Amino acid sequence: MSLNPKIINHLTEWHGCRARILVETGTFEGRTVKQVHSFFEEIHTIEASLKAQRRAKGRCRDLTNVTFYLGDSATALQKVVNGIDEPIWFFLDAHYFEHPDKQNIISEQNHMPLMDELKIIQKRKHKDLVIIHDFHWLNYQLNIDRGASSDDVLELMKPAAHIVFKDCLVFPTNCPQTKFL
Ligand SMILES: C[S@@+](CC[C@H](N)C(=O)[O-])C[C@H]1O[C@@H](n2cnc3c(N)ncnc32)[C@H](O)[C@@H]1O
Repeated sequence: MSLNPKIINHLTEWHGCRARILVETGTFEGRTVKQVHSFFEEIHTIEASLKAQRRAKGRCRDLTNVTFYLGDSATALQKVVNGIDEPIWFFLDAHYFEHPDKQNIISEQNHMPLMDELKIIQKRKHKDLVIIHDFHWLNYQLNIDRGASSDDVLELMKPAAHIVFKDCLVFPTNCPQTKFL
């Protein structure tokens, strides 16, 4: 599943506001971009597969607020955030997405970039919102990546609050106290 208007509306209510900018890792064929482009003034989306990105660009050719980046998200994300001095909503979805049992396909990309992405986000000073997709196999992904788990994500990011909503682990950054506690 991807981000959709219902999820965006729920998270806006939970967070208390919505950023102008969405950054997505793992564009695939552009489903999220297509579904939520009208909620954001800018969308930046990163994809490692040229084939997937070509499809996404075709699907979203009528959208003027989307910038596509080709490459490994852990590398491209740093360049993207360097140019953004305001809060961002991050949708972290860059990983192989078949059933985790298909271990041979996991190695199609060099690695699972999630912990590297989080370390980049962790250094930001803004009150961002982080949405990590596919919670049902997050521990599996993290274990392949670093022998880590979702507890390590929360330990690294130290969020004041988090929720699991529609298979996403969601938390604001740099909010020592939130109205949700
Ligand atoms: C689950 S799909 C993304 C689905 C998309 N976000 C949506 O909502 O429709 C995961 C995508 O991440 C891409 N991916 C995997 N590893 C990556 C990496 N290290 N950097 C960038 N993209 C990556 C895959 O090629 C695949 O297209």
